[in-house]
Amino acid sequence: MKDTKHPFGKGRLRLVAAVGLVVSGIAAAQSGSTSEEDRLVEGLLAKMTLEEKFGQLNQPPGPDNNTGPQAEAAGLDQVRKGRVGSYLGVTGAGRTCQYQHVAVEESRLGIPLLFGYDVIHGYRTIFPQSLGEAATFDPAAVEHAARIAAVEASADGVHWTYAPMVDVARDPRWGRISEGSGEDPYLGSVLAAARVRGFQGEKLGEDGTLLATAKHFVAYGAAEAGRDYNIADMSERTLREVYLPPFKAAVDAGVGSVMASFNELNGVPMHANAALIDGVLRKQWGFDGVVVSDYTGIWELTKHGVAADESAAGVLGLKAGVDIDMVSDIYRRFGPKLVRDGRLDEKLVDESVRRVLRAKYRMGLFADPYRFCADTTRAKTRMLTPEHRQAARDVARESLVLLKNDGGVLPLSKDVGKVAVIGPLADSRADMLGNWAGAGRPQDAVTPLQGLREALGEARVLHAKGAGVNGDDESGFDAAVAAAKQADVVLLFIGESGDMSGEASSRSSIDLPGVQQELVEAVKATGKPVVAVVFSGRPLTLQPLHDAVPAIVEAWFPGIEGGHAIADVLFGDYNPAGRLPATFPRNLGQVPIYHAHRNTGRPTRLNPDGKIEKYTSRYLDVDNSPLYPFGHGLSYTTFRYGAPKVKKAKIAAGESQQVEVTVTNTGKREGDEVVQLYLRDDVASVTRPVRELRGFRRVHLKPGESRVLSFELKPDDLAFYDAKLQRVVEPGTFTVFVGGSSEAKLQATFEVKAQ
Ligand code: GLC
Repeated sequence: MKDTKHPFGKGRLRLVAAVGLVVSGIAAAQSGSTSEEDRLVEGLLAKMTLEEKFGQLNQPPGPDNNTGPQAEAAGLDQVRKGRVGSYLGVTGAGRTCQYQHVAVEESRLGIPLLFGYDVIHGYRTIFPQSLGEAATFDPAAVEHAARIAAVEASADGVHWTYAPMVDVARDPRWGRISEGSGEDPYLGSVLAAARVRGFQGEKLGEDGTLLATAKHFVAYGAAEAGRDYNIADMSERTLREVYLPPFKAAVDAGVGSVMASFNELNGVPMHANAALIDGVLRKQWGFDGVVVSDYTGIWELTKHGVAADESAAGVLGLKAGVDIDMVSDIYRRFGPKLVRDGRLDEKLVDESVRRVLRAKYRMGLFADPYRFCADTTRAKTRMLTPEHRQAARDVARESLVLLKNDGGVLPLSKDVGKVAVIGPLADSRADMLGNWAGAGRPQDAVTPLQGLREALGEARVLHAKGAGVNGDDESGFDAAVAAAKQADVVLLFIGESGDMSGEASSRSSIDLPGVQQELVEAVKATGKPVVAVVFSGRPLTLQPLHDAVPAIVEAWFPGIEGGHAIADVLFGDYNPAGRLPATFPRNLGQVPIYHAHRNTGRPTRLNPDGKIEKYTSRYLDVDNSPLYPFGHGLSYTTFRYGAPKVKKAKIAAGESQQVEVTVTNTGKREGDEVVQLYLRDDVASVTRPVRELRGFRRVHLKPGESRVLSFELKPDDLAFYDAKLQRVVEPGTFTVFVGGSSEAKLQATFEVKAQ
C-alpha cells in the first residue's frame, strides 16, 4: 500500500506520540502492564481531566445524520476541547480528515476520533437486505458481502459499522426482522460470525477493515406484539437458548463492539442492565470491547421510568457497563459533576475510557489517525467496482427463494413471446435497496423492468404499474389488464416498499398492502399465466396470492443488482436455491409461529377416521402448519436424499457424533441444494423443541451428481439449560432429521449413554 502522506504534517503527531509513549511508559510501569497498547492507554489516562474522560465517552450525531429523532450535532469546538470521542454519521474521506485534524492537531491530548456509520448490507454497493442475505444460507457469501462493504466504507473515512444486527426475530410484525437473520439462533449465530469476520477482516485496523458491532444487546426482537421498542419479557431459558447465542457467536468471532438495545427485558431496560452487560457479556463471556448505547438509549432510561432525571440515567448507564453515550450528551454534560459529587466512581469511568482508547489503538488510529481518510483516491477507485456489482448480483441470485412453482411454470423460456411487467415494485430503484441502505444510491440500482428489457429487448416487454404499494387507487388496473391481454405471460412485481420494514416500521397486518391482491385477481382474470415476485422485509401472509398464482418468488429487497438477479432466475440462467430464514404464516393469527416449537401435551393429530382430534392444540379456522416453513425453498431441478447415517449408535455425554447423508441431483439442471440437519432431544428433564437446526450446507450439484455430506454434532449441540439453568447433555435418544427444509422427514436416532 502506498505510504499515505499525512495531510497535516507528521511532526506534531510524532511529538505527541513520543511524549505519550514516554509518559505512558511511566504510568504503565506503575500499573504493571507491559504492552505498547497498555502503555499508551495508561499514559493518556493518567493525563486526562474528567471532562476529557467523559469526552471520550461522548458520541454526538454528525450534521447530516438522520437515524433517529433529530438531535443537536456537536461542532468542532467541542472536538477542540476534547469533548467528543466518536461521531455517528460523519462520512467522506475529506470530512472525516477535517474532523480528525482538529482532534489530533488542535486538542490538548490529540486523541483521534472514531467515525461510526450504519453499514448494514453494503456501503455504496448495496447487497440484499440482511434477511435476504440470510436466505442464501451461504456464510461465505454473507462474509464476502460484508468484506466488500468494509472496503468501500473504510475508503470513505468510516472506521466503525453498527453491524451485524444479530437479533433473533419470530414476529414478522416487527419491522426490524428485515435487518437480521430471522428466527433461528443457529443460523443467526453462523451468520453473525461470518459478518464479523467480513467487516473486521484478518486484522482490525488494516486497510479495508471496519470495527464491527453486534447489536442490539439483547432480546430486542422479542418486542411484545411485534411493536418496535416495546417490552420484551421471557424466561431465562428462552433468553439463553434463543436470543443470546448469536451475540456469543459474534463475541467468539472477535467483534470489537456491542450495542445495547432500546428494550427493557423482564423489567430492566437494557441500557441499565448490569447483570447482562457487565455480568454475562463482560465477565462471563470475557468481552473486552466497547459497549455503545443505541441512539439516545441512555436518555430513554428517564422514559422507561427507572431514572428520575438525566444524571441518574448517566449513573445507571455507566454502572451497567455502557461505555459510549450515543446522542444523549448525558455523559458529557453530567459525568464530571457526578464523579465530583461522589455519585459515580472515577475508576468505573476509567474502565470505559480504557476500552474506548483500546478500540482506537486497535484501529491503528494512534499510529496513523489519517489512515482511513488521507488517500482520497480510494473512495474513487473502490466504490461500486464491476467486481463488487457482480458480487451483489451473485448474492442477490442466491437470496431469491422459489416459494411455489406449480406445473413448472418457471423458468420461462426467452422465446416466451411478450411479457407484461406489472406492479408497483417493477420499476422502483429506491425499493430495490430496502432500508438501512448506507451510502447506497437509487440511481445505481437495476430494477426488474430494466433486467427484463435487457434480457428480452424492449419490444417484448410491456409495462403497466397497475397500482401503488399502498392506497386504494385502482385506476391503473385497466392499463395493467390491457398489457396482460397483449402478453403471453404476466410477471407481477408486488409487495412492500423498502420503508415498510426496518426501524420504527412495524405493521399490525402483514398482508400484501394496498389493493395489490385485487390487482393480482384482475390480472389473473385475463387467463394468462401469472408469475409473482414478492418484495418484502419480513414474512408476509401470502395465502391469497398462493391461491391465485402458480409461481411465486420471494425477492426480499435484493440490492442494486436485484433486477438482473431476478431476470437470471426467471429465465433459468440461475437455478434458485434460497431458503426461508423465517416462517411464512398462513395468517397473522398463527404468530408467533416458528419451526423450533415445543410439542405441548396435546399435539394436533389425526384420529383413525382421518379427522383431526378435537381436543388438541390447534385452531378451528386454520391448520397449525405454516404456509411456507423455515428452510423452505424450491429448485428447477430435483434432489434425492439417502437416509442419514449416524457414525455411532451410542456415544458418551462428552463425545461428538458424525451424521452422514448422500444427496443426488436427480434432475436435468445443475443447481444448489441447502442440505439441513435438525435435531430433537426425544426425552429430557425439560421440554425440548420438536426440532432445532444444527447444521446446513449449500452445495452445488450437476445433473446426476451425488455428494456425501458429513455433519458433526458436538456435545454443545446436544446441550440445553435444565430446570436449574445448568447447561447439560442428558442421556437418552436423539433423533436427527435431514432434508431441504425444516419439514425434513428422513431421520436416524442415536443414544447418549448414561455416565
Ligand atoms: C438507530 C438504531 C441502531 C443504529 C443507531 C445509529 O436508532 O436502533 O440500529 O445503529 O440508531 O444509527
